[in-house]
Amino acid sequence: MLRFLLNDLHITEHNLAADLTVLDYLRDRANLRGTKEGCASGDCGACTAVVGYVVDGRMQYKSINTCITLIGSLHGQQLITVEHLQNGQELHPVQAAMVNYHGSQCGFCTPGFVMSLFAMAKNSTDIPSDARAHIERYLGGNLCRCTGYRPIFDAAMHILQTPDVAKDKFQQRADATVKALESISSQAETGEPDDSEPEAGPLRNGPTRSDTFLRPRSIDELSDMRSRYPDAPIAAGTTDLSLEITQRLREFDRIISIQKVADLDYLTSDENNYYIGPCCTIATLARGLTPLGNDVVNMLHRFGATQVRNQATVGGSIGNASPIGDLAPVFISMDATIVLQSIEGQRRMPLEAYFVDYRQTQLAANEFIREIIVPRQPKSEDIGTHNNPQNNPHNNTHNRHQLKVYKVSKRIDDDISTVCAAFYLRRNGDRIEEFRTGFGGMAAIPKRASALEQLVHNQVVDDKLIAGAGAALATDFQPLSDARASADYRLQVATNLFRRLCIETGQEAVVSRVGDHV
Ligand code: FES
Ligand code: FES
Repeated sequence: MLRFLLNDLHITEHNLAADLTVLDYLRDRANLRGTKEGCASGDCGACTAVVGYVVDGRMQYKSINTCITLIGSLHGQQLITVEHLQNGQELHPVQAAMVNYHGSQCGFCTPGFVMSLFAMAKNSTDIPSDARAHIERYLGGNLCRCTGYRPIFDAAMHILQTPDVAKDKFQQRADATVKALESISSQAETGEPDDSEPEAGPLRNGPTRSDTFLRPRSIDELSDMRSRYPDAPIAAGTTDLSLEITQRLREFDRIISIQKVADLDYLTSDENNYYIGPCCTIATLARGLTPLGNDVVNMLHRFGATQVRNQATVGGSIGNASPIGDLAPVFISMDATIVLQSIEGQRRMPLEAYFVDYRQTQLAANEFIREIIVPRQPKSEDIGTHNNPQNNPHNNTHNRHQLKVYKVSKRIDDDISTVCAAFYLRRNGDRIEEFRTGFGGMAAIPKRASALEQLVHNQVVDDKLIAGAGAALATDFQPLSDARASADYRLQVATNLFRRLCIETGQEAVVSRVGDHV
């Protein structure tokens, strides 16, 4: 049974297909067609809607791509669509801003922009110090092909500068919404039906299948379901699984959603490690890993778009074993460990050993990802200053630990890596004393560059070392040529990134000059 709020309407569904996307539900079943379909792959933002959910008794809001979110994952949440923003005849302030600043021409992208701006308005209590970057972050996943972005930016800037823009009808009804959502959650836990609920209003009859979207509540329940249904895919944010449905037209009769297993949704740390549950979203990870320095955070902010980062999870990114996923190279360079669990118990292994071949992993049919353990690394900005008595930013290369991450793609925002390279190193003056790597986009799996590591270990950085890197990387990798890049280009990029690493970690002045453009 699926229960959620569609705008302010209580919805109870008993018999929806497990693989039904939110977008198809809205357009084909709920007859709400303001939400548009463009790419059906999370790349254009035309289908953006906003999900409201309760945290510590208060409403929170996040934008999602409805084309790559499965309807079953909305259980216990509020789905807000563009039709619901205005208050009677009065436009919501974000809609009014788009009108007043001429932010729409053909209008196809406009509902998606409006919903991203609505999410921005609900999450921006103060005017951010870098308003432009703030707006870009919220709109980076929305494409417009005819208006041009300046009027939309002007509308966004007006929204940020308008006091009380978030004091809208949603805020006035927040207490009632919290109560309704908490009631759904508690009923789901006890399995008690709520006879007082109104009938699901304007839903049209549509085709349904008696399939199942399983929502275990505990790790024990999950272990049990996993052993009973080894063929059912495991999903949390459903952003990746949905691509199988919308792009490859696959059908899934049964899906195990781990989204409601609270014990799998965490990011904690002690003095030695970060401990990351598979349901931790990329957005949460970006906030939690700030002590690792700007490189990691900047890369995580380029992981899909805001709508994707709000839903996509660490477990999904690692579990799908994509050779161009951005998390695995970073975690491999940091010597992370993956913990797998089944009804028989747990086992752990280095993350690099988890990946076997293209999209193949060590995960057995009855197992699931239980945790990723990432050793804490010193904050790169701190190390040099600790070890340099003169605290001279141009001369603090003594005994430094650093984590450097580079993502090369065709666009800055919302794009897939051509090459992703992560380097963890400790540099003592000109000598690199520790060196670990992780590469994406260079092989069928995310992988270390062992020959390069051997070449570099305990060596002085000079022109000879940099010149030898290309040959070492050619031993490590025989990349594919595909639509994104040729094999030669990938090898050249990887070689250039090592050169850049040597320059950046050697001269702070260069770091600050080049770093802004990473
Ligand atoms: Fe393009 Fe959903 S339709 S992101
Ligand atoms: Fe036409 Fe944006 S207004 S695509």
